[in-house]
Amino acid sequence: MTDSSNISPRLSQWREQADAYLHQILPSENTTPKSLHKAMAYAVLNGGKRVRPILAYAAAHALEVETSQANAAACAVELIHAYSLVHDDLPAMDDDDLRRGKPTCHKVFGEAEAILVGDALQSLAFHLLAHKLPDGIPAQQRLDMIDLLAVASGSRGMCGGQSIDLNAVGQSLNIAELENMHIHKTGALIRASVKLGALCKPNVEKAQLQKLDHFAKQIGLAFQIRDDILDIEGETDTLGKPQGSDIARNKPTYPALLGLDGAKEMAEELYQDALASLDMFAERGEPLRELSRYIIQRDY
Ligand code: IPE
Ligand code: IPE
Ligand code: MG
Ligand code: MG
Ligand code: MG
Repeated sequence: MTDSSNISPRLSQWREQADAYLHQILPSENTTPKSLHKAMAYAVLNGGKRVRPILAYAAAHALEVETSQANAAACAVELIHAYSLVHDDLPAMDDDDLRRGKPTCHKVFGEAEAILVGDALQSLAFHLLAHKLPDGIPAQQRLDMIDLLAVASGSRGMCGGQSIDLNAVGQSLNIAELENMHIHKTGALIRASVKLGALCKPNVEKAQLQKLDHFAKQIGLAFQIRDDILDIEGETDTLGKPQGSDIARNKPTYPALLGLDGAKEMAEELYQDALASLDMFAERGEPLRELSRYIIQRDY
């Protein structure tokens, strides 16, 4: 996998910050159960783009919160995301062999261990939110943050979307059904990333939260549309995961429904709409703007 990344030094630095924090909070491979801890590290510390943590940092930045205050929130979502990828690649789901340029977790550690990796990463995410959020956040706001991630991960969020995805194989979904699937399987965690970053501000204003949430909803959908486009246009070496996986498995995708150009137009429209929600943040919204552009233009 190549290191893209035409992202600015600020965003690259936030990517490194997420990597360092994840490294710090993952259980050491030298503590028992060693095989599980090793497999967890393999699944997390393996060159993910860290779009979700960077989104959380950028949302915190928009509200003038020091990004160090957002480490736990940013990395809790990344842990859920990493777990979702380990399970997504399992033979019972997408049955993929390559992830982030390396053999998938179950290929290296076996299916049973890979299932446990997902389970343990999910628990670790909630442990982080329960114990590592900054002191100044009021108790109710902390509970809201935990609840938000729980809902975004569960049957009304990512897991629900994955279920819709599995049941949709070989079916022809209409555009509303496809949107519903994408909003859940990918959009929910992207939206949670932005919201959790924003909620690192004690007593954050509702109007600011609403604007950021609309931004995140649009960009979350655009993210999965780009993922679907890359499944066709990308190259396995660059993507770090098998190109053509959706077509091989007859998955409903935006390009399948709208054609490649239609899918690209749709991503562009969502991007423009997302940008319009950032006006109130002026210069502080710049990292979110840059990240949005990256999301719809990225090549892996
Ligand atoms: C891939 O997510 C899976 C989707 C939800 C579309 P990413 O493209 O963020 O994958 P990594 O984390 O960079 O590997
Ligand atoms: C995965 O969607 C979404 C989640 C893991 C929740 P995909 O199946 O399209 O992701 P890739 O293409 O394997 O990364
Ligand atoms: Mg999938
Ligand atoms: Mg997949
Ligand atoms: Mg995909």
